[in-house]
Amino acid sequence: MIKYKDIGLVNMREMMEKAMKGGYAIPAYNFNNMEQLQAIIQACVETESPVILQVSAGARKYANQTLLRYMAQGAVEYAKELSGGRPLPIALHLDHGDSFELCKSCIEMGFSSVMIDGSHKPYEENIELSKKVVEYAHEFDVTVEGELGVLAGVEDEVKSDVHVYTQPEEVEDFTKRTGVDALAIAIGTSHGAYKFKPGTETKIRLDILAEIEKRIPGFSIVLHGSSSVPSELIEKINNYGGQMKDAVGIPEEQLRLAAKSAVCKINIDSDGRLAMTAAIREVFNEKPSEFDPRKYLGPARDALKELYKHKNVNVLGSAGHAWD
Ligand code: G3H
Ligand code: 13P
Ligand code: ZN
Repeated sequence: MIKYKDIGLVNMREMMEKAMKGGYAIPAYNFNNMEQLQAIIQACVETESPVILQVSAGARKYANQTLLRYMAQGAVEYAKELSGGRPLPIALHLDHGDSFELCKSCIEMGFSSVMIDGSHKPYEENIELSKKVVEYAHEFDVTVEGELGVLAGVEDEVKSDVHVYTQPEEVEDFTKRTGVDALAIAIGTSHGAYKFKPGTETKIRLDILAEIEKRIPGFSIVLHGSSSVPSELIEKINNYGGQMKDAVGIPEEQLRLAAKSAVCKINIDSDGRLAMTAAIREVFNEKPSEFDPRKYLGPARDALKELYKHKNVNVLGSAGHAWD
């Protein structure tokens, strides 16, 4: 059993409490490799933002869970080095955990937080599973995120074509009976780069969020699927030979509004993928003789860092809050 506190990580509780009071949201960025992790840490140190490092099932398959955990441990030390010795608040979180066994294994390996995503299960089964994870996790002061409602789009192998919005009348019962520390809700965001049909309104249901907030005041809410799919990145990708027609994301102003409310954690992954892809395509197009991976992964890392700095400062509002 590795205790996350021994390796310098923190759980999400305190950071979310501060975010709630301060009217901002903590960035939850996914990582699968060294360049993504470097970009996240550099951006968050430079903008003085707390951060949640997320590991998905796909990341575990791609990079190996043990390696990712040790990379997060390295990231704690790396952040300290960059910030002149001041430890940045960093949580290591399992994204979309689908079973008790997986959550338990992450906790034993040093994760400071886990998500148990029972959102595709019937309500009572979701409660039972989430409660079991909470009981285990809380023994070790590990925080737990649950989910109610189903996001449209693709989550690992699970695909859902329609949103099942979170029902505000269920949230009080769910949070009380499970004991989760944070609740992910479905209000019209979705995973991936194709969130809205072209020509349709790009709005999320902030009215449902307000209703949820009324029912569980002060409770930490999480938004998944919160990439904005910047049109300049799509254009750049397409100009350099990509084919990403009709990719549309969540407008940044709407996320900013959500971050000012009870939304304390915002998950962003796809925008980072777009920033890296655009930078790599540019190098491949402009310097076709280049074959040193550092020459294209380096610019991709720099582009990712700039994107995350922008998110922290202008979208989530977490910049400047690392040491509140
Ligand atoms: O929720 C989805 C995240 O973007 C992670 O994606 O499962 O392809 O790693 P992934
Ligand atoms: P995006 O696909 O919108 O970046 O969402 C990521 C996410 O929710 C990770 O859990
Ligand atoms: Zn998600």
